[in-house]
Amino acid sequence: MTRFRHQVASDVDLFSRALLEDPYPVLRELRDLGGAVYMRQHDFYVLTRYEDVRRADRDWQIFTSARGVALVPEINASQIGGVLASDGPEHDSLRAVLREQVSPRAINKLRGDIDRQAAELVDALIPLGTFDAVTQLAQRLPVQVVADLIGVPDEGREKLIPGADAAFASFGPLTPELQERLPYLVAFLDWIAEVGTRDRLRPGSWGAAVLDAVDEGRLPAEKAFPLMRAFLVAGMDTTVNGIASMLRVFAERPDVWEEVRNDPKLAGAAFEEALRLESPVQGFFRETTCDVEIDGTTVPAGSRVCLHFGAANRDERHFVDPDRFDLHRGSLDHLAFGNGVHGCAGQGLARLEARAIVLALTERVTTFELAGSPVRHYNPVIRGLQELPIAVTTRATAEGVRS
Ligand code: HEM
Repeated sequence: MTRFRHQVASDVDLFSRALLEDPYPVLRELRDLGGAVYMRQHDFYVLTRYEDVRRADRDWQIFTSARGVALVPEINASQIGGVLASDGPEHDSLRAVLREQVSPRAINKLRGDIDRQAAELVDALIPLGTFDAVTQLAQRLPVQVVADLIGVPDEGREKLIPGADAAFASFGPLTPELQERLPYLVAFLDWIAEVGTRDRLRPGSWGAAVLDAVDEGRLPAEKAFPLMRAFLVAGMDTTVNGIASMLRVFAERPDVWEEVRNDPKLAGAAFEEALRLESPVQGFFRETTCDVEIDGTTVPAGSRVCLHFGAANRDERHFVDPDRFDLHRGSLDHLAFGNGVHGCAGQGLARLEARAIVLALTERVTTFELAGSPVRHYNPVIRGLQELPIAVTTRATAEGVRS
């Protein structure tokens, strides 16, 4: 029992409503408490300091994903062998299937098309004057873009946002709220099984490339749907909430909006800083393959360990004044996309989508302000918003008001 001598523990429930509302003061306390803190509620260790999270994320031999990246065994059992929940050669072969499609060269070719789609969305919103930037903007672009890339038909795409939300929620504790969400996950899984076939997928799409890999013997047939699903799920709430958090900053900080409007090249910096400050994926789990010592605490082999990207990205040991949005921070080393072999496969695409929205807005909109209170969306893993009411004016509308 001596190995528990230095164990640092907490009774906080990281998945309670209060904590999902505002986790940051408690995350700071956890960072100060120790490098690895045992969470008595739900029985796991949490890593909250930047260096520890980064190191663990890169060390897949000790912090394995191959036993699942969710909290509970039932969900982990269903994940095992997928791209998120595998390691080593098995994981490499899954990542290889769409490697060409997500390469910077291929993603760059999508730029014109994504810019055009973002411009069309913003053009349709401007005449309204006020709109919900979550459901009418931040959710729209990723659904269009990712569903088009995977090559699934238009019909049924309304299942994507609630299905992805439920999929991410299943990474947390088994709660009554999760039970309520599960039918959306089932509807999404049924739909992808129905449309993820050669005759329904657009030729040349990412989905078709997954089926090509099966035909060429590079991917076992039973892994095709899970791989398509992984990309569809991973490309939804993550990007939606990264964009929504950035738009919230624009609405609440006129100085930031003005600066980005005058210099749209700052779009990238604005997105990275929003991701650092409000990491859409707050944390994923790993399992230790051996006893490992972190900051004087021995985390025993076989422990569930949460790599808390959201806490690491506000670690005062790494970032100066970490709770402040700083457009000029240059925070490209944040961990919102993870790090190491499981680092986000779609980060180039997410950046392109966010940039397209910023460009569409800065080219058209003069003032960008809150038109009501933002409403939080509660998900144990994803940090995001349900609603973000926005009022905009353009030069034309401002002149119209004056005349
Ligand atoms: C702002 C948007 C996004 C954020 C914040 C985000 C975040 C993440 C994070 C934290 C991980 C796990 C990294 C780790 O464990 O080290 C991940 C993995 C992944 N992401 Fe993203 N993601 C975003 C957008 C996307 C998009 C647009 C796609 C594709 C359409 C995508 C596809 C994936 C895939 C396939 C993985 C699994 C990688 C693996 O396990 O090897 N993501 N993402």
